[in-house]
Amino acid sequence: MAEPLAFNPLDPAFRRDPYPIYERGRRDHPVLLHEGLPIRVASVFRYEDCQAILRDADAWSNEFAVLDTLEDLPPPSMLGTDPPEHTRLRSLVNKAFTPRIVSQLEPRMRELADELLGDALAAGGEVDLVQALSYPLPVVVIAEIIGIPAADRAMFKRWSDEAIASLGLVFFGGLDPERIARQRRLFDEMRGYFMPLAEQRRARPQEDLLTGLVLAEHEGSKLSYEEMLSMLVLLLVAGNETTTTLIGNAALALLDHPEAEKQLRADPGLLPTAIDEVLRFSSPVQFDPRRATRATRLHGVEIQPDDFVLCWLGSANRDERVFERPDVFDPARERNPHLAFGFGAHYCLGANLARLEARVAIGTLLARTRGIERVGSEELPLHPSPVFRAVTKLPLRMLPA
Ligand code: HEM
Repeated sequence: MAEPLAFNPLDPAFRRDPYPIYERGRRDHPVLLHEGLPIRVASVFRYEDCQAILRDADAWSNEFAVLDTLEDLPPPSMLGTDPPEHTRLRSLVNKAFTPRIVSQLEPRMRELADELLGDALAAGGEVDLVQALSYPLPVVVIAEIIGIPAADRAMFKRWSDEAIASLGLVFFGGLDPERIARQRRLFDEMRGYFMPLAEQRRARPQEDLLTGLVLAEHEGSKLSYEEMLSMLVLLLVAGNETTTTLIGNAALALLDHPEAEKQLRADPGLLPTAIDEVLRFSSPVQFDPRRATRATRLHGVEIQPDDFVLCWLGSANRDERVFERPDVFDPARERNPHLAFGFGAHYCLGANLARLEARVAIGTLLARTRGIERVGSEELPLHPSPVFRAVTKLPLRMLPA
């Protein structure tokens, strides 16, 4: 008989090292109904189960209107809708994120990464990598794609931080009415920012995503005005914290695995597999929630309509049934079908963009230095949302090349 398993996803000890719990979950409790929470929530730990849930948008919905959270702000963004609305919304922006379009941004990303790291090196080489590189790079890139002033990036940072800080708390009783009210004010502020910019594009169209959305809205049937605002907010916020996290986790992985750092310095051609290995090994998004649309049973656990399941991507990506030596960080890993960007209809729209940004950021960091070292030995601060596996500060010493 397997030992009972209980864990608190908000507990810092769990968040710093969730892998022993994940392993027990995969082995003995593939589906675990949490007790003592205000809503019914089950955790799902195995790769195959997470993939099957994320694949089946009929049985497992992304519409969370039963929860009083930012997920139900009217109208929901594509992230909070199911097909066919989801398909309509996503098809309006898909084109801006194809591998071909994204690859055209590479020279600009290189220029930005070089500039940011150049400034840090000129200032002595001791930096918080999050402030110096991993935050500004994604925010400037997405601002330029959308067509909003990158000079407003400090404000975008505040918005992203605030919007994301509460993510996932609702499942564990951590979201109070005061926080919800703050979120609503924040979303109003963000939408208010976009309104005059949309008007400007209507008057003077340009080559940017904002113009594309304004034109789609103009045609009426494709996108309502409110949907356009929700889309802009989602695009501005969804890729920032996640990509910042990926770049930070990549730097941490290299600090923790000096032999991997050596391997990459000797062969920068390994960067693409190395970044995907960071996504698997240290997944920025640890869980992906879904709402049951009907009653079912999962591994003997009864699921009722409107129950929530949390697909633990961080656990699926360490599943020994799928990955060889799952707890080994192998920058040259060839077979790596990780779920870090989700799976199915909601598969991350920005996956190509995020991968390229991380390759450029880490590639530039390695090219501009002959070594990197942690500064200080204190525990690094954890991101406030249990969804993220991230540190919010990463003090580093860069030894110039
Ligand atoms: C390492 C960086 C990133 C990670 C780990 C990540 C992760 C994810 C995950 C797990 C999902 C699926 C959510 C679900 O199943 O409900 C998702 C969706 C999404 N991501 Fe990302 N993301 C990253 C970067 C980005 C970037 C740079 C953008 C910029 C455009 C972006 C935009 C989106 C959008 C719009 C969705 C919703 C797609 C839909 O509902 O169809 N993400 N992301």
